[in-house]
Amino acid sequence: MFVTRLKLPLALFALPVLGLVVWSLAAAGPGQAKQTAGDQTKQEAAPQPAPPAEYVGSETCSGCHADFAPDKLAYHKEIDVVKRLSEWKGRACESCHGPGKAHAESADPKLIFSFKGAPAAKASQTCLKCHAQGLRSSGRAFDAHARNSVACGSCHTVHAPKAKPLLAGVPNGLCVTCHTNVKAEFFRPYRHRLVEGAISCIDCHNPHGSPIGGRTTAQFRASHGNEQPCLKCHSDKRGPFTFEHVPVRTEGCSACHEPHGSVNPRMLVRHQVRFLCLECHTTPGLGLPAGARPSGTAPMGQTPPAFHDLRSPRYRNCTTCHIKIHGSYMSGIFER
Ligand code: HEC
Ligand code: HEC
Ligand code: HEC
Ligand code: HEC
Ligand code: HEC
Ligand code: HEC
Ligand code: HEC
Ligand code: HEC
Ligand code: HEC
Ligand code: HEC
Repeated sequence: MFVTRLKLPLALFALPVLGLVVWSLAAAGPGQAKQTAGDQTKQEAAPQPAPPAEYVGSETCSGCHADFAPDKLAYHKEIDVVKRLSEWKGRACESCHGPGKAHAESADPKLIFSFKGAPAAKASQTCLKCHAQGLRSSGRAFDAHARNSVACGSCHTVHAPKAKPLLAGVPNGLCVTCHTNVKAEFFRPYRHRLVEGAISCIDCHNPHGSPIGGRTTAQFRASHGNEQPCLKCHSDKRGPFTFEHVPVRTEGCSACHEPHGSVNPRMLVRHQVRFLCLECHTTPGLGLPAGARPSGTAPMGQTPPAFHDLRSPRYRNCTTCHIKIHGSYMSGIFER
């Protein structure tokens, strides 16, 4: 027990130094922390011995903070019953706010850890002590939010949640309080109906970043098998196709679509389909050996064969003939 009491404040000082230490600590659980590789770093990094950590237990806290009784803690009631957290049984308040004896005796607010005004990294490390385990959670310590000092508490609130799980608001509204440019994109003429509630930011994004090995671009949520989240709903674009249109797989959907919304029909990145196609289909003689191609051409996609008379309106709307543009089971040129 004594080891654990010392561990918490020490860890809080050392954790911002080495995110990975948190990780291994958390994975090992409070009791085994002494054996982890990170332990030594922790000792060296601690500026000075922490004051003795003395706990009083949750009941004492709610003696004065009647509004914050342990049984009002939505999910965190479970700290008392989860086996791997048995160190914290009866001390749920102090698992987040730190040892509180000095504060409980003096009622001095300076002697207890408050999340309000605390540096983002320190506040988040407190939560990560328990919430860093597992592949699904790994992003929380390293994602764009963590790197930009957006703490857990920017989205979560422990004592007065407005939406599940412990969120300060429903995701769409919550997210656009900061991402105002994205909000504007969902008001473009061709768009996903996010404003109407038909889709949510978190259908496509993981607010905690992608797990290791997943897609990292824009914290894309990885669906089954690390495929794009789009396929969860647009499963007809999944394939596997006998004839794939290469960029659908290699570049992803956003090579051709603006996923939030667009001024162009079908949420395309270009106003006219042919301009989209011809931006890639510019390599003459693709398929020839590298030396035989005109110098400086990259193999993006080959120029349409000469019978495509691009001056004629008939040939301008490429997808009237190349109709299965995402891939085909029948035709190498996506005719059907
Ligand atoms: C003897 C009464 C008493 C006890 C027991 C007590 N507190 Fe407090 N606590 C106070 C008072 C008074 C304040 C200051 C309130 C204010 O400024 O509005 C306070 C403030 C706080 C704050 C805010 C600190 C800040 O910087 O604003 C937190 C967090 C807190 N208490 C948590 C706890 C926890 C956790 C426990 C149990 C370990 C606990 N308290 C036990 C009386 C108590
Ligand atoms: C899971 C972590 C966690 C647990 C457990 C927890 N708190 Fe908190 N507490 C917070 C956070 C985070 C805040 C900041 C406001 C919010 O997010 O709701 C806070 C805010 C407070 C405040 C308001 C002080 C301020 O900063 O203005 C008091 C008082 C408080 N907690 C007391 C308690 C008491 C008493 C318990 C035990 C019944 C407890 N807390 C359990 C995380 C926790
Ligand atoms: C002492 C360990 C501990 C600490 C510290 C802690 N939590 Fe938790 N948290 C738990 C447990 C236990 C649960 C309930 C079981 C579960 O769902 O994993 C939980 C549940 C949650 C949930 C809901 C999970 C779900 O699956 O829906 C959220 C969100 C959450 N905590 C956020 C936070 C935040 C934010 C902080 C920091 C302010 C924090 N926690 C600090 C142990 C902890
Ligand atoms: C940018 C906003 C945001 C930030 C920052 C954030 N979360 Fe979350 N969190 C969410 C949303 C939204 C959900 C619900 C996600 C879902 O249902 O897929 C969630 C879900 C959770 C859950 C339950 C589901 C799960 O994935 O296990 C836990 C636990 C959690 N967050 C903990 C944390 C912790 C700890 C931090 C800080 C290190 C944090 N979150 C930072 C928005 C955020
Ligand atoms: C408190 C402000 C805040 C809130 C709330 C917030 N974010 Fe962020 N978000 C940021 C900041 C700051 C960055 C990093 C800078 C940037 O890329 O814009 C970021 C980055 C991101 C990125 C990565 C962008 C990239 O280019 O890699 C995504 C995706 C994202 N946020 C989605 C969300 C989602 C989804 C939510 C709601 C669950 C949310 N954010 C809530 C502030 C916030
Ligand atoms: C239909 C899926 C989808 C939905 C819903 C969605 N996004 Fe995105 N978002 C994407 C994709 C795909 C990208 C990457 C675009 C690219 O590659 O340039 C992206 C990029 C981003 C970026 C980084 C680039 C930028 O535009 O700033 C942020 C931040 C972001 N999204 C936030 C949000 C927020 C906030 C919401 C909810 C209001 C949201 N997204 C809803 C798919 C989606
Ligand atoms: C949660 C389900 C869902 C996800 C995830 C999703 N979509 Fe959609 N998408 C829809 C629905 C439903 C429509 C039908 C149009 C509407 O809602 O008005 C649509 C419409 C579209 C359209 C326009 C169709 C038209 O006829 O104008 C395109 C293009 C599109 N989605 C691309 C994407 C891309 C790219 C992604 C991934 C970044 C994605 N979608 C993720 C549900 C989803
Ligand atoms: C090479 C460019 C390209 C890529 C990559 C691409 N699309 Fe498309 N997509 C198009 C074009 C062009 C259209 C319009 C077809 C038309 O004119 O009828 C379209 C139309 C759509 C539509 C509406 C019509 C329909 O067929 O349902 C949806 C939905 C859609 N795409 C989803 C996706 C998804 C999901 C992905 C990623 C898996 C994706 N697209 C990747 C070019 C592309
Ligand atoms: C992001 C780049 C990109 C865009 C945009 C794009 N393509 Fe492609 N396309 C390719 C690549 C790469 C291949 C495979 C290489 C190749 O053989 O040309 C390919 C293959 C094809 C093929 C199969 C024939 C072949 O040469 O293997 C057809 C037909 C085709 N594309 C038509 C279109 C049409 C029509 C559009 C517009 C709706 C379009 N492409 C948009 C990159 C692109
Ligand atoms: C009137 C129908 C039609 C239209 C419109 C059309 N194509 Fe084609 N395209 C074809 C046919 C048929 C072939 C197959 C020629 C062959 O087999 O030799 C073809 C072949 C291609 C190929 C080469 C495929 C290969 O492997 O040889 C590309 C690339 C291509 N088209 C791109 C485009 C682009 C880009 C547009 C729009 C500017 C477009 N097509 C408009 C009918 C059309």
